[in-house]
Parts: sequence; C-alpha cells; structure tokens
Amino acid sequence: MHERPADDLHPLTRAQFEYALKKSCKMRLIAFSSLLATAVLSVTAVAVAPRGESDQVVLGDPALTAGVPGVGLLTPKALDAWLKDPANHQTLKVQLPAGLDAAEANIYIPENNPMTRAKIELGRQLYFDERLSSDNTISCASCHDPLQGYGAETAFGIGVRGQQGGRNSPISYNRILSKGQFWDGRAGSLEEQAVGPVGNPIEMGNTHAACVDTLKNIPGYKKQFDVIFDDGVTIDNVGMAIATFERAIVTGPAPSDAYEAVKKFETVFADDLEYLDEEPELKAKYTKLKKATAESPMSESAQRGMILFSGKANCTACHAGANFTDEQYHNLGVGMAADKPDLGRYAVTKDKKDWGAFKTPTLRNVAMSPPYMHDGSQNTLEEVVDWYDKGGHKNAGLSDKMKVLKLTDQEKADLVAYMVEGLTGDFPVVNQGRLP
Ligand code: HEC
Ligand code: HEC
Repeated sequence: MHERPADDLHPLTRAQFEYALKKSCKMRLIAFSSLLATAVLSVTAVAVAPRGESDQVVLGDPALTAGVPGVGLLTPKALDAWLKDPANHQTLKVQLPAGLDAAEANIYIPENNPMTRAKIELGRQLYFDERLSSDNTISCASCHDPLQGYGAETAFGIGVRGQQGGRNSPISYNRILSKGQFWDGRAGSLEEQAVGPVGNPIEMGNTHAACVDTLKNIPGYKKQFDVIFDDGVTIDNVGMAIATFERAIVTGPAPSDAYEAVKKFETVFADDLEYLDEEPELKAKYTKLKKATAESPMSESAQRGMILFSGKANCTACHAGANFTDEQYHNLGVGMAADKPDLGRYAVTKDKKDWGAFKTPTLRNVAMSPPYMHDGSQNTLEEVVDWYDKGGHKNAGLSDKMKVLKLTDQEKADLVAYMVEGLTGDFPVVNQGRLP
C-alpha cells in the first residue's frame, strides 16, 4: 500500500480529505500501525461479537474484516484453528449499519454465494494480495485503496507497468446494495466483476490460469479454498471470495443520518410536537434523536446544504435513498465535448436513451475519493457543484433532470459542506496485512 503524501493533494480537496480521514481514524490506525491495531482489535472483536453464538451480524463489525486473530504472517497453525471453527462457516444473516439500513431491501447476495466469516476473510486476503497480478505489483487495493476512500487519487486506474485505463477507479464499498457493477453496469454481479481485473492486460495483467496456479502453490490459500469451496481453487471461487469481502465493506452512520431521523420524526409527529410534555414516551424518543445530532453535529452551512440537496438543487432526483443512488444511468454531459466521447451505458445496451449515460454513484464518504466522475475530470466537490449549477454540458443525450440551478456562492458552499460533513461515516476496520 502506498501512503500518499498530503502535499500531493489538490489544496481544495485537502481540507475535505483530512476531515474525512479524521472521521475514520480507526481505519488509519490499522494502516499505520497494523500490528498493534490487530492485537487490540482481536480483543475488541471478541467483545463485540462472540463468535459461534449468533449468525446474525451487522456489517461493519470489525470482527468480520480484522483478519484471522493474531499478528504477523498467517501461520498454518492459526489458519487451521480458524478453519476448524464451525462458526466461521455458518451462513451469516447480515444487517446494515444505522443509516444505510433503510436500504436493507436492496441487499443483493446471490443464492449460490452465501456470506460466511471464512469467505469474507479469504476475500480480504485476496483483495490486498499483489501476487494476483502478473508481476506481483498490483492488487485490487492499488486502485481501490482504503486510504483513498476505496478509490484512487489518479484520474484513471493505473495497472501493471504503469499502464493507464480510460476510466476513474470508482469506490468499492456499499456494493452489497448494487447488482450492476462498473460505471456502465456491464457486470451483472460482484462475482463477475471481481475476476475481470485479474485478466485485464492493463490492470493486473495476469491470466486466470496463471493466477489459479499461483494460489494453488501457496499452501495457506489452497487450504482455505479446499475447505470453503467444493471445487477448491478456481477463478470463479476467487471471484466469490472477493465479492463476499466487498459486501462486508459498508459505510457506518454519518451525521446526516441523525438529522434525517429528526426530520422524519418532526414530519410524522408534526401535530404532537407542541404537546410532547404530555407524551413522555414520545418525548424520550425525540430527545434521544436530538441528542444523536448533538453527538455528531453538522455546521449550519451543512444543515442548509441538506435542505438544498433535496430542494432547490434537486440532487435527490438521482442520488436518492439510503445509499444516495437510484442505481440508474444518466447523461450529465461529462466528457461529452471530446472528439470521441465515452458513450457509457450505450455501448452495453445500444439503446439511444443510454447515450453517454453513467451509473449514479453513491455519495456516502464521497469526500474521501477525489477526483470525481467516470473520467476523473473533476478534482473537487466545488467543481462538481459548479457542473450541476450550470446544468451540466449540453449534448444530444443530456438528462432532462439536469437544469440550470442558479445557486448563490453560499448555496454552493452549503452543498459541499453537506457532502463533506454530513455524508462521511466510518469505514470498517480492515486489516491490510496478515496474508498466507
Ligand atoms: C488498475 C486499477 C484497478 C485495479 C487493479 C482494479 N480495479 Fe476495480 N475498477 C477500476 C476502474 C477504472 C473501474 C471502472 C471501470 C469501468 O467502469 O469501466 C473499476 C471498477 C470496479 C468495481 C465497480 C464499482 C462500481 O461502483 O460499479 C468494483 C467493485 C471493483 N472495480 C473492484 C475491484 C476488485 C475486486 C479488484 C481486484 C480483483 C479490482 N477492482 C482491481 C480500476 C481497478
Ligand atoms: C440526473 C441525475 C443526477 C442528478 C440530478 C445529480 N447527480 Fe450527481 N451524479 C449522477 C451521475 C450519473 C454521476 C456520474 C456521472 C459521470 O461520471 O458521468 C454523478 C456524479 C456525482 C458526483 C461524483 C461522485 C464520484 O464518485 O465520482 C458527485 C459528488 C455528485 N454527483 C453530487 C451531486 C450533487 C451535489 C447533485 C445536486 C446538485 C447531484 N449530484 C445531482 C447523477 C445525478
């Protein structure tokens, strides 16, 4: 993992980035002092979720992604003990963290790939393992780096031997809520998506056969595949494991979730608000919700931004629901001024309505993963808001939801403040080492 020097960042994004990083200090801890953190974690993990007692978990629980208990390289002994514990092979009933949980109905886990602790753990190792690439230099995390908000700071993905792709690396979290993957949705599942980069000549530059051979020759991997899957090490099983790990990476509660809960209460109980003193139970509930906003406060600017987001700025026309996406494809005109523009979804469906359309990305933790858009052409959230303010870029396929907004400078700043302060929550603690 490459730690990025703070000075490399665009000055405008830096403040936002630092804010966001501060919020996920737990994540930094594991990256910067992985050994120590792992030791601490394996203690908390036991306290949070006693293994074996229940197969019901809330994703984001550090016990799921902190690695096989212990420190350092994964020894055969530690692995044996891990694989012998039946609790690690139980199908998990997963719930989402508060905030995101309103999207529970959209959880997508294919029937043939149930989530288990052992499979999440195997997927975690594979995700961070550069040996999956042809020259042992690139892992999934090279372009979807936890320290770069699970994206990459470069405009385009950079693969083996410094080769560049043609699109920006999107984030790889909250994927449990999406079926279609990629900016154009061309992969129908995470399983299908995950094996793509391994064989892609400019990403990991490997062949599936060579990757499988490599893994078969690492006893720790071979053992895990043999125990977890009926047919051992296959490229499809690599995809199954990585997809399962990705499903465990979800964003924790963000300040806006607390404010939304208050807003919802105030709407539902609008008539009762004046008389709360007479209804102790309701009052207690209201006090609790208000207290939550006080514990993760948003500035007044961010609070105004929250109102603009679903009001005058109409962002919720597409960034809707608990994961701030409608999972649809829209043309905002990004990159459409080029001689040969990337036509996005159209290349997949050949349907005129998809001309230059790209998938609406989630906005949770968006402050952590500049640059923005499918071509990484916008460096800051300020630039993004300006793009919407002018109604995008006119072209034959421009979405009819794109309108000139006529926002004041203050309103633009408010929207940015809302995204930075309101939509940033913790990522799960993920151990990036401890490989076999
Ligand atoms: C060289 C950089 C690079 C590497 C390595 C890489 N990716 Fe990606 N990833 C990208 C880019 C660029 C896209 C978007 C491509 C597109 O939309 O056509 C992408 C898309 C994705 C998506 C879709 C996200 C979404 O919102 O639709 C997921 C999930 C993903 N990658 C996971 C992985 C996994 C798992 C690995 C390792 C097996 C991996 N990536 C390796 C650059 C990379
Ligand atoms: C017509 C649907 C639509 C509307 C309305 C909309 N968005 Fe988007 N948003 C998208 C799509 C689609 C993309 C990706 C476009 C691309 O890459 O070509 C996107 C990308 C973004 C990104 C970049 C995210 C990333 O990971 O690269 C941000 C930030 C964003 N939108 C914020 C907003 C805000 C703020 C508003 C309101 C002012 C808004 N959006 C209104 C559909 C929409």
